[in-house]
Amino acid sequence: MEHTYKTLMKEDIMEISVILAHPYPESFNHAIYQTVLDCLKENGYQVHAHNLYEEGFNPLLEGPELVTGETSDPMVLKHRQEITKADGIIIIHPNWWGQPPAILKGWTDRVLRSGVAYQFEEGDDGSGVPKGLLVAEAAIVFNTSNTPEEREKLIFGDPLERIWKDCVFDFCGIKNFHRKMFRVVASSTQKERQLWLNEVQKIVNNYFPENGFY
Ligand SMILES: Cc1cc2nc3c(=O)[nH]c(=O)nc-3n(C[C@H](O)[C@H](O)[C@H](O)COP(=O)(O)O)c2cc1C
Repeated sequence: MEHTYKTLMKEDIMEISVILAHPYPESFNHAIYQTVLDCLKENGYQVHAHNLYEEGFNPLLEGPELVTGETSDPMVLKHRQEITKADGIIIIHPNWWGQPPAILKGWTDRVLRSGVAYQFEEGDDGSGVPKGLLVAEAAIVFNTSNTPEEREKLIFGDPLERIWKDCVFDFCGIKNFHRKMFRVVASSTQKERQLWLNEVQKIVNNYFPENGFY
C-alpha cells in the first residue's frame, strides 16, 4: 500500500521516495521506515512511501522487458515516474548475504532502467559512461546487519557501500550520498535501538530539513 503525505501550505512541495525492503512488520527495519516517514512528514515533504513486500512488488525482470525496457506493470510504471522526479531518495533494507534482499534487487533492475535513471550517449553500445538522469539532491541508504564493523570491512569489504554509492547512485547521477549501517542488531538492547532511531531522525533532518534543502 502506498501512503502519500501532502502539505497543502507550500506551493513547491518537494517529493521524497522512500523504499523499504523487509518482510516482517515488527523488524527494526520497519521501525527505521516509520521514523523516516514521520520525520519527512513533520518537515513538510510529499512522501512516496513504498513497502515493497506489503505492496507485492514483482521483482522479476522478464525477457521482453529486458529487451525493450517497456512494461505494462502499473506498479513499475508508477515507481519509474516517481523516481525520475524525486527530490530525494531514501532506501531501507537489511544486509542479506552482503546484498539487498531480492525484492529490492528486482526493484533496481525494473525501475532504474535506461531512459529512466541513466542514458548512454547516442552510438554508445553500453560500454561507455552514461549520463545520470536522476535529479534527486541526495540519496540516503539505511542498513542493518549482524556483523561487527571491523569484520565487515576486513573480511567482506562492505559490498553494500560499493553497490549503492558507486554502482547505483553515482551511475544514475546522484553524488550526494549517505549510508548508515546499524549493527549488531541481534545483540542490541532496546535502549541502543532507540538511540539508533534518534540517529535516523538526525540524518533525515540534516539532509531533508524543514522548509526544504536548497
Ligand atoms: C537471508 C539472510 C541473509 C543474511 N546475511 C547477512 C550478511 O551477509 N551479513 C550480516 O551481517 N547479516 C546478515 N543477515 C542478518 C540480517 O542482516 C539481520 O538479521 C538484520 O539486519 C536484522 O534487522 P531486522 O531485525 O530489521 O531484520 C542475514 C539475514 C538473512 C535472513
